[in-house]
Amino acid sequence: MACSDGGNDNGLEARVKSLVAQMTIEEKVAQMAGDGPIPLAKGGVLWGAPGVERLGIPPFIMADGPRGVSPIQGATTFPVGMARGATWDPALERRIGAAMGRELRVSGGNVLLAPTINNLRHPSWGRSQETYGEDVQLLSQMAVAFIQGAQQYVLATPKHYAANSIEDTRFQVDVTIDERTLREIYLPQFRTAIIEGGAAAVMTGYNSVNGQFCGENEQLLKQILKTEWGFNGFVMSDWVFGTQSTLGSARSGLDLEMPLARFYGDNLLAAVADGSVAESLVDEAVGRMVRKKLEFGLDQSSGLDAGVVGGEEHLALAREAAAASAVLLKNDADTLPLNASALSRIVVVGVLADTANTGDRGSSNTRPDFVVTPLQGVQQLFGDAITVEHIGKDVLDPADLERIESADAVIVVTGLTAEDEGEGLIGAGDRLDLGLSRERVQLIRDAAANNERTIVILQGGSAITMGEWLPDIEALLMVWYPGQMGGYAIADLLFGRANPSGKLPITFPTGQDQLPPFDNQSLLVTYDYFHGYRYLDRIGLTPEFPFGFGLSYTSFAIDNLNASRSRANAGDVVRFRVDVTNTGPAPGAEVVQLYVSYTGSAVERTELELAGFTKVMLDPGETKTVEIPVAVNNLAYYDVTQKAWVLEALRHTVYAGTSSRDLPLSTLLDVVAKQGVSR
Ligand code: BGC
Repeated sequence: MACSDGGNDNGLEARVKSLVAQMTIEEKVAQMAGDGPIPLAKGGVLWGAPGVERLGIPPFIMADGPRGVSPIQGATTFPVGMARGATWDPALERRIGAAMGRELRVSGGNVLLAPTINNLRHPSWGRSQETYGEDVQLLSQMAVAFIQGAQQYVLATPKHYAANSIEDTRFQVDVTIDERTLREIYLPQFRTAIIEGGAAAVMTGYNSVNGQFCGENEQLLKQILKTEWGFNGFVMSDWVFGTQSTLGSARSGLDLEMPLARFYGDNLLAAVADGSVAESLVDEAVGRMVRKKLEFGLDQSSGLDAGVVGGEEHLALAREAAAASAVLLKNDADTLPLNASALSRIVVVGVLADTANTGDRGSSNTRPDFVVTPLQGVQQLFGDAITVEHIGKDVLDPADLERIESADAVIVVTGLTAEDEGEGLIGAGDRLDLGLSRERVQLIRDAAANNERTIVILQGGSAITMGEWLPDIEALLMVWYPGQMGGYAIADLLFGRANPSGKLPITFPTGQDQLPPFDNQSLLVTYDYFHGYRYLDRIGLTPEFPFGFGLSYTSFAIDNLNASRSRANAGDVVRFRVDVTNTGPAPGAEVVQLYVSYTGSAVERTELELAGFTKVMLDPGETKTVEIPVAVNNLAYYDVTQKAWVLEALRHTVYAGTSSRDLPLSTLLDVVAKQGVSR
């Protein structure tokens, strides 16, 4: 079975060296560029990059994957990355990574072009839905989990390295970013993906950073990724426009041009022949790819059964993930869960109630054999107990309003679709207006004006502003793009067969004025240190819903925060413990979150920064002690003058609670001496 040997060499390096030494320069250079799409019988394409048959070196066969193995007909469609970020559940994410890895491997592929781990700087980013959220700690833990799961079967490719979070200008935009912001806000999750996750490959972004395209950015590729982080896998470009030069790319450490040779191939051969690219650089790049092919056993058969693709087990996992990712944002008068035996007739309203709405149609698009819509979920699971009517439009007439008025409850399904947000060029691109369309706002308001018990099921890949209609409704469940089993999960949640446990992985602002600027016109943008909850905390504003927020059908009490030590040094891991009790009527899961403050720091820091979290499932009345480890080195800041991480001697306050704005417990942690660390 494919998998990394966890760093045990077993003669691997010697084999890599010997194989590279046996190759001609033509064979070596050929491996440094993709050889195009591999059409599949049922439509869709995989992407290839050659091996060397005579030496038994297999090709790479790649497929996208942020929400499922994208080109394979019938592969399981999971909730999008942002939804999975909302689970705050790395153990679940690991199982999803493994499921995608299995489905790809059994379909003949061996490199998954996932996970997307760009930090969500602004919810207008068209591809927000692919990533896990706005915080490096959350991104890091989810990335590691996905990669470790997937890499039991295939190579994973965290992308897009780095600072890639604008779609409409993605091929040309230059992101100006100071080194501290780059190191602390935009790179840590990539580092963790490499060092803890053991990612085999990395895909560069299309954009440039500080004047150098990511695919030829010496600082990002050679200095940080390969030298400082010791990455021994390979770097591939993003597709077509992700490679911008022959010499610059080869010298800066781009190992593989995808999906075809434009700047590599013959141009690279010529550059080696005339001495402008040293053959040793080619040897290194090829060695990196051969190393991963051997390490992961890509030359061996997978031994997997084709039935795993879209099979029962993976569909059940997709349903579990959809339920775990929903965030209950409002639930006045305990409107939810609905009690089926106390209702006789409900009306499900809106076009999206019966639309397969799984997300963007760009590279992350999938081909599920079926999608369970919210209406189908409710009808199939509860249609025998109650009458379920559907008004399948977004503009209501007087007859619709009468049906709504006389119903026992109204469920409005609305939000965003692939028409509103997605990948640039092949999808809808960035979303500049963060509200719903006027029609959909009116739909909610009309329903709520005619029935007091109006529940909104909201779909979309990122933050949605809702000030104008939020006060009108009783309950609000954010379900993101919940994947092909989403309809069942939504029905389970509405009727209390599942209890919401998702927490926002991003801030939901009241409006644009609570966000840093988003400019998708200019080709020169600056990313500064503060965004998301960091930005709001700094300027003292209250969002609509804060980072980390989410309600439940039960209630929890947290108590007794203590730490394994109150004084710590570089390299220590401090274990914080908290008792969590389910004080309400239903089984449910809570996410305990730890935030740290840096009062007295020599540099401006985030007011409160997520330092760790854990999700725990509890029966009514049950108490469990959870433990959240915090690596002290993660408290360091990057000193731009010294060009080094500095761990300050500070008295930190560490807060525990259930959202970034609900932190009832605190304790102190003294870091004892100022010191340089690696982070
Ligand atoms: C996207 C990548 C994707 C690649 C291959 C590019 O346009 O930016 O995320 O992996 O296409 O489909």
